[in-house]
Amino acid sequence: MPKGGDKRAIAERGLDETRSGLHVAIIMDGNGRWAKARGLPRTLGHRAGVKALKATVAAAAELGIGCLTVFGFSTENWNRPAQEVNDLMGLLKAFVDSDLDRLHQEGVRVRVLGRRDGLGADVLATIARAESLTKANDRFLLQVAFNYGGRADITDAARHFAEDVVAGRLAPDDLTEARFASYLSTALGPNPDLIIRTSGEKRISNFLLWEAAYAELVFQDVLWPDYGAEPLKSALAEFKTRQRRFGGAELDDVLAAS
Ligand code: IPE
Ligand code: IPE
Ligand code: MG
Repeated sequence: MPKGGDKRAIAERGLDETRSGLHVAIIMDGNGRWAKARGLPRTLGHRAGVKALKATVAAAAELGIGCLTVFGFSTENWNRPAQEVNDLMGLLKAFVDSDLDRLHQEGVRVRVLGRRDGLGADVLATIARAESLTKANDRFLLQVAFNYGGRADITDAARHFAEDVVAGRLAPDDLTEARFASYLSTALGPNPDLIIRTSGEKRISNFLLWEAAYAELVFQDVLWPDYGAEPLKSALAEFKTRQRRFGGAELDDVLAAS
C-alpha cells in the first residue's frame, strides 16, 4: 500500500485498467481433505496444491484471463497448528524459487496482497524479489493473497487515509469510493469479474470483501490439488452463462415495460 498519498496508486491503477482480459480470483480450498482422502499428511496436500497453482496459472493465460488473484494464506490461517503454518510459509518461497524466472520471461507481474507484519524475513525477501523483478511486466497480473484478510485490508486502508488527513494531505471530503480503493492492497488490479471457490464450501472466508461487490461467484466441488485447465474452463463456461446487471435492468425488460 503506497503510504503518504495515493497518486502513484491511482496512476498505476489507470494504467492497469487498460489491461485486457478477465480478472478471475480463486479461493484455493481443499488441500487438507485431498490429503486425508489419500491417508497423507496435510502438508502433502499443500504441496500438491502448489502444483495445481502452477497448472492453473499456465491455463489462465491461455484462456484470455488478464489477472488471476489466488488466496494462499488468510489472516485467520494463523490459527492452524504451528507446523502447518510453517509449511504454508515455506510454500510461497518454493513457488517463487521454482517459477519466478519463467513467470518473468512470460511477462507476468507478481504482486503479493496482504499484511507484511508477522511474516518471516525469508518470506519478506521472497516477496520483495518477486515484486521487484516483475514490476515492469504487463502481460498478466498474478496476485497472491498471503497473510491477507478482506477486513484487515479495509482496516489498513482506512488507517492510511486517516493518516493522510491528519497530516493535512487530504480532507475527509476527499474520500470517494475510487480513492478508498486506491488504498487497498488490490489497488493495482481491476475488480474481480469471477470468484471461484473449490472444495464445495460456499463462503467467502474474508476474501476480497470490498472488491467482490459485483463479482460472479462459482463454487466447484473439485478439491484444489485436482484443479487445473479443465475445471477452470468449466468455471469460465458457467461465468459466460451469467447476466451481469450491476444493479441495472435488462434492456429487453426495460423495453417490454415501456
Ligand atoms: C486450502 O486448503 C489451503 C489453505 C487454506 C491454506 P485447506 O488446508 O483449507 O484444506 P481443507 O479445507 O482443510 O480441506
Ligand atoms: C480460505 O480457506 C483461505 C485460503 C484458501 C487461503 P479456509 O480453509 O481457511 O477457510 P474456512 O476456514 O473453511 O472458512
Ligand atoms: Mg479449507
